[in-house]
Amino acid sequence: MSASSPFADRFILVTGASGFVGEHLVRRLVRRHSAVAGTFLSNPVSIDGVVTVPLDATDGPAFSRLIRDMRPAAIVHCAAQTNTNWCEDNPHEARLAIVNATANLVTAVFERAPDTPVIAFSTDLVFDGQSAPYVEDAAPGPLNAYGKLKLEAEPLILTLPRGMVLRSALVYGPPTSRRDSFLSWMVKQLANWDDLGLFEDEWRTPVFVDDLEDAVWRLLTVPAAEQSGIFHAGGPDRLSRIEMGRRLAEVFGLPEQPIRALLRSDVHRGHLRASDVSLSCGRLRAVQWNPTSFDNGLQECLRRWSALRSTS
Ligand SMILES: NC(=O)c1ccc[n+]([C@@H]2O[C@H](COP(=O)([O-])OP(=O)(O)OC[C@H]3O[C@@H](n4cnc5c(N)ncnc54)[C@H](OP(=O)(O)O)[C@@H]3O)[C@@H](O)[C@H]2O)c1
Repeated sequence: MSASSPFADRFILVTGASGFVGEHLVRRLVRRHSAVAGTFLSNPVSIDGVVTVPLDATDGPAFSRLIRDMRPAAIVHCAAQTNTNWCEDNPHEARLAIVNATANLVTAVFERAPDTPVIAFSTDLVFDGQSAPYVEDAAPGPLNAYGKLKLEAEPLILTLPRGMVLRSALVYGPPTSRRDSFLSWMVKQLANWDDLGLFEDEWRTPVFVDDLEDAVWRLLTVPAAEQSGIFHAGGPDRLSRIEMGRRLAEVFGLPEQPIRALLRSDVHRGHLRASDVSLSCGRLRAVQWNPTSFDNGLQECLRRWSALRSTS
C-alpha cells in the first residue's frame, strides 16, 4: 500500500474500467493505492493488480449489491454510452446507460455509505459552443442527445454529500487493451496516406488522459469539505480539429498532405456539433492541477506507442 494513500486497504472502485478513460485510470491509480477495482460490461479486461468485476449499471439491484459487498472507500463513475451518434439514434437505451445508471449509483451509495466520495465523469458537450471558454458555473445548453443526458445525470451526483462532477474535454492518449482515442484514427489515416478530413471550425481543449487521473487523485484527496460540485478538466491549448491533426503529423513524423479542411456544415448532423466548448478549469487549477500541453502529451503518446511496437 502506498504510504500516502488515505484509503487504507479499502477499494477505490472505477466503473467502466474497460473503457478508454477507465482503463488508463485504473492502471495509474493502482500505483498510488493498491486496492483498485474496475467494472466492465461487455469487454472483460485483465489489468495487473486490479480486481475486475462485471457490472451492468442499468441494473439497480446489481449496482447496490456491488457497493454493499465491496464497501469502496471512493467511487469514480466512468461507465456510460459515449458514442454521440448512437445516443441520438437510441434515446431510450442511452438514457438507461447514462441517467438511470447514475441514479442507480446514487441510490446504492445512499443505501450503504452516503459519505463516500464519488466522482462522476461528464463532458464539455453540456455546452452549446457559443460562448467559450466555459467556467464551471457557466450556463449549459447541450446540442445533442449525449450532452443532454450527461447534463441530466449531473444533479443526481450532486445530491450526494461528497458528489463531484468532473466535466472532461476531448480526451487523448495511447490506445488501451480495448479502446482507442481519436489519435489512433488520425495516425492510421496519415500513415496510410488516406484522406483525413478535419474541421477547421470546431475547437476543443484536448486533455491528456494521464492528467485526468491526476485530477481524480487530487479530488479524492482534498479535504472532505471541498469534495462537492462541478470541476472542469481541459488541456491548456485551445485547438481546432485540423490544428490537432497538423500537430500530430509533426510530432509523429507523419505526412500532412492527407489532411483536408472540413466545415461542420459539410457533414450530416453537423448542426449537433458544438463549435467551441473550450473549458476553463479554475477549480482544478486551485488544487494545483497543471495539465500537459498538447505537444508534450503527443510526445508522451509517441514514446509509449513506440514502446508498444517494440514489444509486439
Ligand atoms: N473520451 C472522451 O473524449 C470523453 C470526453 C468527455 C467525457 N468523457 C466521459 O468520460 C467517461 C469515460 O469515457 P470513455 O471515453 O472511457 O468511454 P468508453 O471508452 O466508451 O467506455 C465506456 C465504458 O462504459 C462501460 N459501459 C457502457 N454501458 C454500460 C452499462 N450499462 N453498465 C456498465 N458499464 C457500461 C463500457 O463497458 P464495456 O466496454 O465493457 O461494454 C466501458 O467500460 C464517460 O462518462 C464519458 O462520457 C469522455
